[in-house]
Amino acid sequence: MSRINNDTIWPISPHTAAKHHILMKYVQAWAPILAIGSNDRRFIYIDGFAGPGEYSNGEDGSPVVVLKSLKEHSSANKFLGTEFFNIFIEKNSNRAQNLEKVIKKRIEPVPSWLKYRIINGDFNSQLNSILSEVEEGNKSLAPCFCFVDPFGWSDIDYDVLSRVMINKKAEILITFMAGYVERFVFDPMHIPSLEKLYSAQQLDSIRASKNDENLVTKYFLENLTQKIKSNSGVSELFTISFAAYNNHNGLEYYLVYLTKHCKGLEVMKKAMFDSAKDGSYKFSDFDFDPNQKTLVDYGQEKIWLGLASSDCYNVLVEVFGKGKKIPIDQVKSTIICKTKWVYRAEILAKLEELDKIKVKIDKRRKGTYPDRGFIVLN
Ligand SMILES: C[S@@+](CC[C@H](N)C(=O)[O-])C[C@H]1O[C@@H](n2cnc3c(N)ncnc32)[C@H](O)[C@@H]1O
Repeated sequence: MSRINNDTIWPISPHTAAKHHILMKYVQAWAPILAIGSNDRRFIYIDGFAGPGEYSNGEDGSPVVVLKSLKEHSSANKFLGTEFFNIFIEKNSNRAQNLEKVIKKRIEPVPSWLKYRIINGDFNSQLNSILSEVEEGNKSLAPCFCFVDPFGWSDIDYDVLSRVMINKKAEILITFMAGYVERFVFDPMHIPSLEKLYSAQQLDSIRASKNDENLVTKYFLENLTQKIKSNSGVSELFTISFAAYNNHNGLEYYLVYLTKHCKGLEVMKKAMFDSAKDGSYKFSDFDFDPNQKTLVDYGQEKIWLGLASSDCYNVLVEVFGKGKKIPIDQVKSTIICKTKWVYRAEILAKLEELDKIKVKIDKRRKGTYPDRGFIVLN
């Protein structure tokens, strides 16, 4: 950590590459929907802890990953008349300068619909002034995706994050260093910053739980969502997270995503699934095989299917009850919005094979579940 904190650039780790893969997949799928498909015809990406734009072996940093995902998008010819505005905030001036240099080299020239601005400053204060400008001008923020990727947790401010989420179409992806919180929870030096995230009672429970990494993230999510709901009046927030482990198989961080829109959740879940090895949203450096062509093993490993089908079945029973005819499109949207799983026909096929569901539909190809049909839960 300390060496990384001082160098302008540093080596990339496999779990950072996985994070970038998720970011790329998400932006590629979601930004055009927001920019082309909405009245705003504008999409704002905020990279709050932007970094130097590159890693020491030349890999792209997150701002470059996002700019490339947009510039080289397969639908880029339809982007004329829209605006993709990217704001990169970086506190360290050497890194901010490096970022500018890398973007000039790897991305410029940019098409007219692609804009970016590098701000050498502190995330919380810069974001507060951007949001104040929007509020003072009585404007509303265009659909916005904010990536919060600090080294630690001390710059995470629930008030600033909930201020972003007040906006109608705002989403946040946070790298939450749960593994470090867990390791430093007894260290007096870190207590003041931890007290900004947790109540005294929660910190006591974390200490008493002896390394319960789930508790660290559970309280974080609870506190953040509660703050967003109370500040913005939003009643329903969708969240999903992806765990990254280091090469000692210790938890490094959770990638935590928050949105008000089920469609956004669907896109993010797909991006996370695509980057996970077994569908459990875990990615570990420990058993990472560098010869593997991609991080995706989803198609081959069916470990996820048993878990996904039983989880989805339980949620469907809870929502609809047994014995009723449920339209298949409602089954799909319930799986997307109310479980942690992506919707895949294999989930319903597994439930059919286990005789947990009956499918009511005139004609269909085996293993397909068209929206015009119904299922009944046994
Ligand atoms: C984990 S790195 C970012 C990596 C980058 N997002 C990527 O994926 O390539 C965190 C960056 O945040 C910067 N930083 C630290 N404190 C900050 C603050 N308060 N506001 C903005 N940037 C900050 C650091 O200098 C560092 O470059």
